[in-house]
Amino acid sequence: MFPKKYALFLITILSLSLFVSCERETSGEKIRVGFSQAMSNDDWRRSMNNSMLLQASLNPNVELIIRDANYDVEKQIDQLEELIKDSLDIIIVSPIQSKPITSVVEKALELGIPVLVVDRKTEDQKYTAYLGADNIEVGRNAAKEIISSNSNDTIRIVEIKGLSGSSPAEERSIGFNQIINKYNNANVVANIEGDWEKESIQKKLKVILSDNANINYVFAHNDRMALGAWEVARDLGQEKKINIIGVDGLTGFNGGIQAVEDSKLTATVLYPTGGAEAIKLALRILNKESVPKNNILSTTIINEVNAEIMKNQFDRINEQQGNIQQQITEISDLEERYYAQSNFLKIAMTLSTIILALALYSIYSIFAIRKKNRLLELTNSKITIQRNQIEKIAEEVKLSNEAKFNFFTGLSHEFKTPLTLIISAIESINILAKNKGINMMNEVELVHNNSNRLLRLINQLLDFRKLEERKFTLKASKTNLFKFSQNIINDFEREANKRNINFKLSSNNKALELFIDRNLMDKVYFNLLSNAFKFTPDNGNIDVYIEDDEVKNTINICFKDSGIGIPEKDMDQVFKAFFKGSNNRKNSSGIGLHLSKEFIELHKGSIRVKSVHGSEFIVTLYKGHAHFDDNEIITEQDLVDTSVIDFTSEHLVDDNYLIQAPLNETEKYSILIIEDNPDLSVFLRNKLQLEYDIYISDGTDAIEKALDTIPDIIISDVNLPDKNGFEICEILKKDLRTSHIPTVILTALGDQESYLKGLESGADLYLTKPFSYSILVQSVKSLLYNREKLRFYYTSNLHKITDKDGFGNLEQEFMNKLNNIIQNNLDKSDFSVENLAEELNISRVQLYRKIKAMMGINISDYIGNIRLEKAKALIENSSLSISEIAYAVGFSSPNYFSTTFKNSFGISPGAFRKSIS
Ligand code: FRU
Repeated sequence: MFPKKYALFLITILSLSLFVSCERETSGEKIRVGFSQAMSNDDWRRSMNNSMLLQASLNPNVELIIRDANYDVEKQIDQLEELIKDSLDIIIVSPIQSKPITSVVEKALELGIPVLVVDRKTEDQKYTAYLGADNIEVGRNAAKEIISSNSNDTIRIVEIKGLSGSSPAEERSIGFNQIINKYNNANVVANIEGDWEKESIQKKLKVILSDNANINYVFAHNDRMALGAWEVARDLGQEKKINIIGVDGLTGFNGGIQAVEDSKLTATVLYPTGGAEAIKLALRILNKESVPKNNILSTTIINEVNAEIMKNQFDRINEQQGNIQQQITEISDLEERYYAQSNFLKIAMTLSTIILALALYSIYSIFAIRKKNRLLELTNSKITIQRNQIEKIAEEVKLSNEAKFNFFTGLSHEFKTPLTLIISAIESINILAKNKGINMMNEVELVHNNSNRLLRLINQLLDFRKLEERKFTLKASKTNLFKFSQNIINDFEREANKRNINFKLSSNNKALELFIDRNLMDKVYFNLLSNAFKFTPDNGNIDVYIEDDEVKNTINICFKDSGIGIPEKDMDQVFKAFFKGSNNRKNSSGIGLHLSKEFIELHKGSIRVKSVHGSEFIVTLYKGHAHFDDNEIITEQDLVDTSVIDFTSEHLVDDNYLIQAPLNETEKYSILIIEDNPDLSVFLRNKLQLEYDIYISDGTDAIEKALDTIPDIIISDVNLPDKNGFEICEILKKDLRTSHIPTVILTALGDQESYLKGLESGADLYLTKPFSYSILVQSVKSLLYNREKLRFYYTSNLHKITDKDGFGNLEQEFMNKLNNIIQNNLDKSDFSVENLAEELNISRVQLYRKIKAMMGINISDYIGNIRLEKAKALIENSSLSISEIAYAVGFSSPNYFSTTFKNSFGISPGAFRKSIS
């Protein structure tokens, strides 16, 4: 919208400019006077026009519009029509001829436009007023002048008439002849019909004068024709004897008065133009003053007697008129300047007013804006306060929610330890009962199944939270899908048998290998199969079919049951969280299918459901691993146990490699269990103490215990009262004394972040709670076995160990340092284990235990072995005597060296030298 202030501004400007431009017109109403002039080519007419213009200019309100018909009668009629059409206030007309314009004059009168006729009249006197000299009187005056100037002679006259049909010509002739006819000695001997111009009469006059030598007077109806007559007389040499009288009596070089003075004319009858009087009379008519119908201008004879006086008078009049004209021009100029200045002043004033108005408006605006700003600031600060309050409330709500969720998540995690204990305990009871031949199957199975069920529910809740927090990262590994499926299906076999359900697994490609996150897919299988068993009646069917779709490069896993099916209206809803089917009367958390769908979508796959004679869930997954990010693929599973259910044997220790028993009964491997839950630590101790020496720490003294005992393996919980499991692991792994100890982290935290923390801390294995006791035991054995393999390598290669040998950096560094010290002191027979421990900055016992753990032998034997290896090398590569070699490798007696050498290599040093030489 156009702003109000600008509209006001524009209106001001427009109105002021209107005011400025209209100012001159509003000082008085314009009077528009139209004048139809018969012609303007002679001085008399020009004089008439000039005096009209002069008179009109004296009155600024009068606008005089002159139209020149130029002797054309038709043109004069048209021009009059136009003036009528233009609604002039009054029309002045000087007719060329009387008759033709009579009707148009009458028309103007009928339309209410007054008509003032000048000089020549119209017929029937139908006009508002007439102004002009009395032409009869003009004719008479001319005749009287002739008569008076000649008393004796016979007067023989040629009368030269004006245009026939114009009233002056008619009337002048009448007046002239009225007087001449009174005198017997005066006769008009010839008449010439002229048209007011000399050319129209000269030929005829020449003939007359040539034929009549006694002609002594010529009366011409105007001075122009009179002067033309003089030229003829002169040409005939008769100018002295012929007296010529004209009409008009104009001043000026070609005027009649000058001609009288020049003795060309005897006299001229004054015929005033009446221009000024016509304007005056017109204004009087418009002023509604009563004016006479016929306004006669006076006329007089001008001859040699008064020509000079008349000339002077007219010159003075002309001079005065000139002055007036000049003054009028000056006044007009002054007026122009006045109006220009006045307008300028008004514009300046207008602009000043506008500037002032704008300045005031600006000041007003500044105050208004300041006021608005203050209001805005106020509103803003109110909004800010409100926003802060909302943010605070939102933050509080968020914190409260987080606290609730954390409590809920923490609680769920807490459930897992007791559940693990229950499950492990029940497994033990079962084994114990079996061993004793007691059948407790039903009760044990009941407790076992329900514990597992509780565990799964808790896991589902935790998974749901993890999904909500987007904390899942896929860990896909190459898996034989059929075997994977078979393992899970085995768990349901017993229920299938019990309920006589026909439960089958089949596939068109049993060798098919697929990249899946086994943990997540296990949950998907478990959920879909649990549902199938839940809704399939006894004696029903459950089929799992794995279809390798070669064309689409996908696989479909179809779980089909003969249960109650899913109503059509529920189809779209079944995968939504917390949805419970309308025909589902069983207990259900409503998140199992939702989680399954999310897990499948993490695999970039899809799940759909059909319901024809039961339900069919079809899981579609891509083959290969191009659809996964690099970090979603794992090639080894050595660090992560992902499930309670042990479906693979790949990451477990092969029975052939199991460390069956310690070397002797008294020498067991030792395990340090760092766990603050006394139930769990007691449970583990009870389970493990048969095979291992067990040390327990509740976490408060974990480091001290580890340094003190230098165990063969450490099992540590994460959530501990002092340092957490990751921190403890990191400290121990960075300590030379304990860096070699394999560490298992036990935790309820199964997310990616914890997994990474485990890796960073240097943990060797990461087991998520609830862990299967059997997996824990197998893992411990596997780690010990690996350690044993390394130990074997150490002892067989002793001081040749290099960076590439698969030890940790710290172990490598330790071994290098150890070997260097031994090598440097090899020739000293009194170099002891104490000296070595001192140089390594650890205690003798720690050194002993570390070397025992790493090499499987005691440190003294290790040093002895190095001495002997060195001696063997010297025998092979040097020319030193056996005695010299014995001292060089730190034996104080060559005999003792020979005995020890022989015990170790089965050959005496001397014999060995001979054998190689
Ligand atoms: C001018 C004129 C005058 C004459 C008058 C008569 O045009 O010819 O000489 O007196 O007209 O109308």
